[in-house]
Amino acid sequence: MEDKSILLIVGGGIAAYKCLELIRRLRERGVDVRVVMTKAAQQFITPLSVSALTNERVFTELFDLDDEREIGHIRLSRDADLILVAPATADLIAKMANGLANDLASSVLLASDKPPLIAPAMNPQMWLNPATQRNVHQLEADGARFVGPETGEMAERDEAGPGRLAEVPALIHAIEEMTASDRSTRARGSPGPLFDRHVVVTSGPTHEPIDPVRYIANRSSGKQGHAIAGAAAKAGARVTLITGPVNLPDPDGVKTIKVETAREMLAVTEQTLPADVAVFCAAVADWSVAEQGDQKIKKKKGKPPPALKLVANPDILKTIASRKKGRPELVIGFAAETENVLQHARMKLKRKGCDWIVANDVSTETGVMGGDSNSVHLIRTGRHESWPELSKEDVAATLVEEIARELASTKRTAANSKSIRAKVDKR
Ligand code: C5P
Repeated sequence: MEDKSILLIVGGGIAAYKCLELIRRLRERGVDVRVVMTKAAQQFITPLSVSALTNERVFTELFDLDDEREIGHIRLSRDADLILVAPATADLIAKMANGLANDLASSVLLASDKPPLIAPAMNPQMWLNPATQRNVHQLEADGARFVGPETGEMAERDEAGPGRLAEVPALIHAIEEMTASDRSTRARGSPGPLFDRHVVVTSGPTHEPIDPVRYIANRSSGKQGHAIAGAAAKAGARVTLITGPVNLPDPDGVKTIKVETAREMLAVTEQTLPADVAVFCAAVADWSVAEQGDQKIKKKKGKPPPALKLVANPDILKTIASRKKGRPELVIGFAAETENVLQHARMKLKRKGCDWIVANDVSTETGVMGGDSNSVHLIRTGRHESWPELSKEDVAATLVEEIARELASTKRTAANSKSIRAKVDKR
């Protein structure tokens, strides 16, 4: 991010104070930060404290002769590599979605030639209100990207739900993603068959701690799941990849969230909904250790090794596939089998309640685990097809084509998905 310039538009919300930390972290990374504050933002933090951190004056007025002579709202907007709106209030989001320009912040946004990154923060009911959801949907369709809101306790007493400003690391991650290479052109570029769709993918193994230094894991490399996330992003989808520990770069254009345990993976997956499609490719550990040691378990001379008591992990695929509200339209599981692949996969389709199973033979002689190619069967209720051996990238691209075809053939158009989304958000 070094040498990039960010225009940060601070809206009026209690979370505005987090911007100070964000500015500090961005400056440490060599990022130039200019700040526009709305009137309401100035009720929460002062322009003086912001300018102390940015080393620049803070911009607050639309009709400020000095500013217009020195740097007008058009230049403010064009000079930046990225415009970040944080915290984005319901009001600011509504203005953006409707093209209002009655103050400096909204004018800068309307005059921008690139899609903004928006970090909402507001009361959960305001976020879930159909009006806000319509505005969010509109902005996404216009190419804007959202980071957060996160779910949790609100500043108001006894209020909890989605509406917290994303944490600073998540904001920085999203900024990195958007300032990298051709992101902004891609966001406005050709829409692709999964445009306007949210695809969630799980990938990699999970690590289940035994004590602070040891864990139970498996041989999953994450290559297949990461390839699917990358292929869905190339097809225009907004993709959230939830991955266990892997040795792979984050796929381009994908929001990647790193987790360790199955329980964390489930919690994050639930937070990322609603989604149109969910692909569960992770090799989730079936068990975790019942009592994890706070300290490293020591060998004791003359004593037998410790017995590990295991407890069942949640089944993420089954949990999401059996949701009554907020179930993604298409839920896809994977089945790694070492024998009777088709038969076991068909049983799994039923047992898990998902729509498709992608089954592969992972017996050691196939070299699929950790390897670069895969030979899979796509199983749906009442039919299956076997694909030839393909690279994991090609399996991913073919699966994404199938997903796009399925969504198109069920006539779940963007408009329809909007209404499903609104229902989901009313949960
Ligand atoms: O039951 P099995 O592990 O064979 O099922 C594999 C499928 O279920 C994969 O799609 C995997 O991602 C998913 N799964 C899960 N949570 C678990 C176990 C498996 O999501 N705890």
